Amino acid sequence: MRKIYIVLSLFCGAILFLSNSSDNSSNANLFLLVGESDPILPEVPYDYAGIELPKLLLETPYGTNDSTVFDDISNDIATLGRVLFYDELLSVNENLSCATCHQQHLSFADDTPFSEGANEETQRNSLHLNDLAWTNNVAFFWDMSHGDLEKMILLPLQNSNEIGVMDIDALVAKMEQTSYYPELFEKAYGNSEIYLFKIQNALTHFIRSMVTFNTRSDQFDRAEIHLTADELDGRSIFLVSCRFCHFEGRKELMHEFDYPSNLDANRRFFSNEMELAEGDIGAGNWDSFMDGLFKVPTLRNIEKTAPYMHDGRFETLREVIDHYSEGVEESEWGMLPEGGFQFTEEEKNDLEAFLLALTDESFLTEVRWSDPFDQTLSDSKLEEVIHSAEVFPNPSNGLTYINFENINQRQIMAYLMTMDGKVVRKLSTHKNGFVTDVSQLPVGMYVVRIKNGEDFIDKKLIVQK
Ligand code: HEC
Ligand code: HEC
Repeated sequence: MRKIYIVLSLFCGAILFLSNSSDNSSNANLFLLVGESDPILPEVPYDYAGIELPKLLLETPYGTNDSTVFDDISNDIATLGRVLFYDELLSVNENLSCATCHQQHLSFADDTPFSEGANEETQRNSLHLNDLAWTNNVAFFWDMSHGDLEKMILLPLQNSNEIGVMDIDALVAKMEQTSYYPELFEKAYGNSEIYLFKIQNALTHFIRSMVTFNTRSDQFDRAEIHLTADELDGRSIFLVSCRFCHFEGRKELMHEFDYPSNLDANRRFFSNEMELAEGDIGAGNWDSFMDGLFKVPTLRNIEKTAPYMHDGRFETLREVIDHYSEGVEESEWGMLPEGGFQFTEEEKNDLEAFLLALTDESFLTEVRWSDPFDQTLSDSKLEEVIHSAEVFPNPSNGLTYINFENINQRQIMAYLMTMDGKVVRKLSTHKNGFVTDVSQLPVGMYVVRIKNGEDFIDKKLIVQK
C-alpha cells in the first residue's frame, strides 16, 4: 500500500514536473516531500504546547499537581521529537525506532511480555509513555532507577538492544545528510547544529506532550457524560481499593522518593504482593532495602497495554483483578488485605468496566503523535474528515460555517482562495469546523481548501451581497 502510494506520488510529481516546466522549483519541492524516507509534516506545526491539567487533577486527595510542567513545551521542538521518535535511521542497523516497542495504538507500549530488541528480547515489559510529564514523573523504568526524563532517555538511545547509538559523530554525520534534519533542528533550536543533548531534549518535549485527558472518566469528572451504573460501582471500588497506590500525581509521596530516608513508610506502595519472578528484584537492583519493588504505573489507557506487570505475566485485566482479589501472596510489605480483596463476581465486572472507562480513544490515533513517515496513515485519516466536510450557507453573505467530523481532534487547516489560487484567509483548528465572516469579501466564486497534512479537498463557495 505504502509502496504503491509512493510510486503514484512520484508519477504524479513527474507529470506535474513535465507539464509545467516553467516553474519547476515548486515541483522539485513536491518531489522532495514525497521521497520514501522523508517525514510528512504539516506546514504549521501541530499544537503540543498549551496543555492544561484538568481542574480536578490540580487538587487530589493525595496532593497537589500543577500545570507548569507543560509550560516550556515547544511545538517546533516536539515536532523534531516526533520525527526522531519514529525514525529508524537513528538505530545502528536502521531497522528499529522508539516506536518499535512504544506503539501509539497501544498507548505507546507494545503487546508482548517482552519486546524484540536489536539483538534479543528486552528483560522487562515495555512501558506505556502516556502522562509521564505530570504523574509518575520522578521515577522512571519499572525499577524506578531514574528520576529525570531527559537524562533517562539516554538509556534507550544508547542501549545496544534498543536504538544503540554508540558513535554519536557517525550518527550526526548521517543525520546531516538527510533532507529534513538540518531544517528541523534549525526550526526547533534556532541553529541547525545536531548534538546529543538536543536529541534527548526534543524526544522529551514530544513525550511530555502525551496526555490522556479525554477518557470517559475525565468526561464524567467534567460533568460532560454519565457513567453507567456498573462503571460507577467500579469507580467506588477503585477509589477505595486501588487509588491509594495508583494515584494521579501524588507529588508529596513521590517526592519523598528523592529522599530515601523518608521512604521507609512509603516503600510499601511499590509492591502489589505478587509472586516474585526469578532473577528480577526491581528496585532492589539499586537499593538493597527495596527488593521486589516496582513502579506503580498510571492506569490511564490500561485497556491498551496488555500484557500486564513488569514481566507481562497477566494477559488480561480480569487476570489482574483476580490477583488483587484472591492471588495476593504473603509478603513483607503487607499493604493489601491478606489473601486479597475477595471481590464478588459482580464487583470484578464493575471494576473492569471502570478500568475500561480510563481509555482515551483519541490519544491512540491523534495525528500529532503518529508516525510522520507513514503516508498511508495520513491518507486514511484524511478520508474520515473529508467525507464529512460541508460549507454552509452557500451562497453566503455573512457568517459561513465549514464543518466536518473531526472526532480525533486532528489539526485541520482551511484556506479561502480566489478562483486563481490567491489565499485570502487561512484558518486552523483542532475542533469540528470553522466559522468565518465573508461579508467583507468581494462577491464572486471562491474555493475553500480543507487540508490535513499534505492532503486536501476543495469546496466551492459563492459570496453574494
Ligand atoms: C527494543 C524495545 C524498546 C525500544 C526500541 C525503546 N524502548 Fe523504551 N522501554 C522499553 C522497555 C522494555 C521499557 C521498560 C524497561 C524497564 O523498566 O526496565 C522501556 C521504558 C521506557 C521509558 C520509561 C517509562 C516509565 O514509565 O518509566 C521511557 C520514557 C522510554 N522507554 C522511552 C523510549 C525512547 C524515547 C526510545 C527511543 C529513543 C525507546 N524508549 C526505545 C523498550 C524499548
Ligand atoms: C499496594 C499498592 C497497590 C494497590 C493497592 C494496587 N496496586 Fe496495582 N500495581 C501496584 C504495583 C507495585 C504494580 C506494578 C507491579 C509489577 O509490575 O511488579 C501494579 C500494577 C498494576 C497493573 C499493571 C500495570 C501495567 O502497566 O502493566 C494493573 C492493571 C493494576 N495494578 C491494577 C490495580 C487495581 C485494579 C487495583 C485495585 C483492585 C490495584 N492495582 C491496587 C501496586 C498496587
